Amino acid sequence: MADILEVKDLSLHYLTRFGQKVHAVTNVSFTMKQGEILGIAGESGCGKSTLVNGLMGLFIPPLYPTGGDVLVSGESLMNRTPEDVRLNVLSQKVSMIPQGAFNALNPTRKIKDIALDVIAAHSASKKLNEKEVYARLRERFDLFGMETERILNSYPIQLTAGERQRSVIGISTLLNPKVVIADEPTSALDVTTQKVVIKMIFDLLERNIFSTMIFITHELPLLRHVAHNIAIMYAGEFVECGTSTQVVHDPRHPYTKALMGAMLSADAGQKDRKPTTIEGAPPSLAKTITGCRFAERCPNARVCEFKHKNQSMRMVGERLVRCDYVE
Ligand SMILES: Nc1ncnc2c1ncn2[C@@H]1O[C@H](COP(=O)(O)OP(=O)(O)OP(=O)(O)O)[C@@H](O)[C@H]1O
Ligand SMILES: [Mg+2]
Repeated sequence: MADILEVKDLSLHYLTRFGQKVHAVTNVSFTMKQGEILGIAGESGCGKSTLVNGLMGLFIPPLYPTGGDVLVSGESLMNRTPEDVRLNVLSQKVSMIPQGAFNALNPTRKIKDIALDVIAAHSASKKLNEKEVYARLRERFDLFGMETERILNSYPIQLTAGERQRSVIGISTLLNPKVVIADEPTSALDVTTQKVVIKMIFDLLERNIFSTMIFITHELPLLRHVAHNIAIMYAGEFVECGTSTQVVHDPRHPYTKALMGAMLSADAGQKDRKPTTIEGAPPSLAKTITGCRFAERCPNARVCEFKHKNQSMRMVGERLVRCDYVE
């Protein structure tokens, strides 16, 4: 089966006002096939949102591509103007479900008009008229057992959080994009609503309304149920990449282990669950980093003979791990 998404050695940097480069994403490579859900997890500042922009080919200063390529169904998204990306990539090839559904929806427009605005902004080739947009919206919302007429004729403030989030998902996938990227789509929702939203995502995937999905979240326990594969990101790099079962139940990279350990204890405690904290801090991405990026926080560092060497991804069993120490 051909790859829907192919990311090859993608590196991205910000150029600060002082001319300094912040290497937010370094040599990220992965591929995705039809029907696949990839979860990406890592602590704050590791480069997840920057990577999302790169995956849409969206480079708005101060963000620049350093190197590498992103291909959707064999077509590169690099070297395009933001206008070209808006008209020919967003919503059609790659669609993003934004973090806060409430902020994503214009409060002064009804849901049906917001959908019309989105389609008008992002469909140079697939021009749909107003009637066609409404028809498709109705069909989608009906499919998910939503109260279609009421929701389409409501302003965002008149809807529940779950209805808003489902409306955003419905609108973002209206043009049947190949890749859908969800940046923390359920983090502001209660558990019951989370389940409804996740079921909707699975339904859309099953019906081929979109082909692949990237799910970014801090909630690793959730990722375990949603994603087929998981990539763990640390200081701009992928450090472990494997099936959800491999990564969650048998993590190999010391950072993944630390992340899982912190998550599991938080899981057991339940009350005041906080984002994971692991002692120490990741290295600054504004400096050239040599050697292992995790060494300063790694429990193996004292005995590790490889820590001064730049670490590359290699196969450990059947998954990729960026650590020469682990077997
Ligand atoms: N405009 C900018 N200029 C310079 N550096 C930036 C800029 N935006 C982000 N960065 C840096 O790039 C790195 C990656 O940031 P990014 O927002 O992608 O992280 P993230 O993993 O999405 O974090 P979070 O989980 O908090 O959303 C961070 O070190 C951040 O400080
Ligand atoms: Mg982010």
